Amino acid sequence: MPKSVLITGCSSGGIGHAAAVQLAAKGYNVFATVRNAAKAGDLAAADNVTVLELDVREQTSVDAALAQAGDIDVLVNNAGFEVWGALEEMTVDDLKDQFETNVYGPFRLVLGVLPGMRKRENGVIVNVSSVAGRVAGPLNGLYAASKWALEALSETLKYEVGHFGIRVHIIEPGGVETAFGANRRLVGAAAGEESLYAEMFSQWEAAGQRLNPDGAAQPDVVAAVIVDAIENGDKFRYPATQDAEFVFNARKAMTDEQFEQAMRQQLGLTW
Ligand SMILES: NC(=O)c1ccc[n+]([C@@H]2O[C@H](COP(=O)([O-])OP(=O)(O)OC[C@H]3O[C@@H](n4cnc5c(N)ncnc54)[C@H](OP(=O)(O)O)[C@@H]3O)[C@@H](O)[C@H]2O)c1
Repeated sequence: MPKSVLITGCSSGGIGHAAAVQLAAKGYNVFATVRNAAKAGDLAAADNVTVLELDVREQTSVDAALAQAGDIDVLVNNAGFEVWGALEEMTVDDLKDQFETNVYGPFRLVLGVLPGMRKRENGVIVNVSSVAGRVAGPLNGLYAASKWALEALSETLKYEVGHFGIRVHIIEPGGVETAFGANRRLVGAAAGEESLYAEMFSQWEAAGQRLNPDGAAQPDVVAAVIVDAIENGDKFRYPATQDAEFVFNARKAMTDEQFEQAMRQQLGLTW
């Protein structure tokens, strides 16, 4: 019997879509979920793939998709987005909005699949975090907070459910060439509004390009790491791109103060 995998956020061109393609090619029974079926692209006609609608912010939508999919062996919590801007220009509702998709959403899915996995004493949960899941920077405070929260939940879950034969893994991409940047919800300076933070915004945008002079990684690269975590699963955390490895290594080797100084020098930040 092929293993069943449910993946959230499989819109064409993204990491979830690439993971669905790779897992289907390996013979998994893939439930590729999207908020809007029209965005599933070629997955609609792909072998071994069933496209389901699922909005991680809606409990009824999560319940309906899980009921349609049946027993799930592997859950890939991939859906996510970023609210982008300076913290002073954010509201509590912005923070809630960010957590609704990036934290409460994956948690809903985890709660949905765990009882079945526990009874079958078998399962894999893969949560797609980010380099921002361990290292926060200017302007991504809400997003980083959501990914740190996702990492904390994942770490606790690993300790609690390993006992039942369930593995938990975190995937940490750096920059990846998807619609993620275009899908960001921009606030304040980031949205082009008049702002005290406009100068910092422009410095940080330029810094992003300096960090990835050869361009961002392709979604296939991250999808291959997801497949590796599912099939081999010898690590808890999987940095998934070269820039993520670079940042983590630098962060590990330095104190907070050294890291900030090196980052400012490397990226030319005067703010
Ligand atoms: N690209 C990067 O640089 C990068 C770096 C680090 C981590 N990541 C993480 O990687 C994951 C995938 O992102 P991506 O790069 O593939 O970006 P993407 O192309 O924008 O894909 C994000 C996916 O999440 C879906 N989504 C958003 N809100 C949702 C909701 N409420 N319910 C269900 N699905 C929802 C989107 O659906 P719609 O198409 O309907 O909006 C889309 O399918 C995210 O968790 C992201 O945080 C990305």
